Amino acid sequence: MVATALAVVVALVVGGITRLTESGLSITEWKPVSGALPPLSLADWNTAFQQYLQIPEAQTVHKGITLSEFKALFWWEWIHRNLARVVGLVIAVPFFWLSFKGRLRGALRTRLASLPILVAAQGALGWYMVSSGLSGRTDVSQYRLVAHLGLALVIFVVAVWTAAEIVARQRVATGTPVAGDRAALFLASLTFATILSGGFVAGLDAGHVFNTFPLMGGQLVPPSYGQLVPFWRNWFENAGAAQFNHRVLATLTLLLTLTLTFRRATTPSRGAWRLIAAAACVQFVLGLTTLLLGVPIAAAAFHQLGAVVLLTAALWTAVVPVRGHSSVLSPAIPPSTSATTADTTVDAYPRRARKA
Ligand code: HEM
Repeated sequence: MVATALAVVVALVVGGITRLTESGLSITEWKPVSGALPPLSLADWNTAFQQYLQIPEAQTVHKGITLSEFKALFWWEWIHRNLARVVGLVIAVPFFWLSFKGRLRGALRTRLASLPILVAAQGALGWYMVSSGLSGRTDVSQYRLVAHLGLALVIFVVAVWTAAEIVARQRVATGTPVAGDRAALFLASLTFATILSGGFVAGLDAGHVFNTFPLMGGQLVPPSYGQLVPFWRNWFENAGAAQFNHRVLATLTLLLTLTLTFRRATTPSRGAWRLIAAAACVQFVLGLTTLLLGVPIAAAAFHQLGAVVLLTAALWTAVVPVRGHSSVLSPAIPPSTSATTADTTVDAYPRRARKA
């Protein structure tokens, strides 16, 4: 599960760089198996290049592009697609092997069985996203970009959650009697929403407008907010509004983190919360840096990575109990389940974690 999560993170960050370098449309066909090999001869490179020159992006954004410039774009997209294949293998090979050996049972088996399906769906969704940019427009649909980002995160969350539950079970078995801090689950959900809103900022190139903070066009709420009808379209199709929403969600995420960290200051989980708070502060500063500097690739890539770190920290804290503390009284856990030494491992541990 840890290998899966790491592979997804690498694919995600390289996917972000692929988008930021405007490389994502350089491979204009989808060959899930044979596409693992790059063009091997000059003739193959020329064919791929000629196919690329047919699409609107090559005639506008990359007008006058040379073969060697095309190769630079191609390699980013090719690496991203091959990393996706690696994710598929990292998930599928152990799953089918352990299933074959009869070592997976019950809820864990069902959950792990969903991962190869989700990865296959993610590949198809990736192509569906790319195909939206091959004719009629010079970039991909922001809706499909966010769907692709969201499904990557779902795969990531399943992997991290499963790994965390396994660690939690081990801690319960060694005497740590309470669950993780479920308030962190709320923070993880808010972080997830903030990430998706960041996907709309990226998909609409909204980081290139209103490069000031906290004001946007001299106002807190950008003047263009609400110009699209019906109103909800502004959230997904209006660059200024999408960026404003991202700022609001990011600020709420930071404030919630700091509040919970403050409230946990005297509990055994304070160390975990301090790490979450550090991750949230760094992430907020990375977002500001990305915005104020006009979306440099390095800052934007680290901003994407920082989001995953924050999400992981929140998920882990939500599931894994603090090691060796039998008196953790998390407000998220009802009094009947907060433990004494006598009622350890069974009643004091959440049913969902025991099943996995
Ligand atoms: C908890 C805080 C935050 C989280 C979790 C977060 C998450 C994200 C993610 C995941 C993306 C990239 C989506 C993608 O590449 O598909 C993104 C994009 C972006 N975020 Fe944030 N963000 C946070 C705070 C901020 C703040 C405070 C700002 C600035 C005020 C900001 C500005 C941006 C900008 C400009 C982009 C677009 C970059 C690009 O085009 O690649 N973010 N955010």
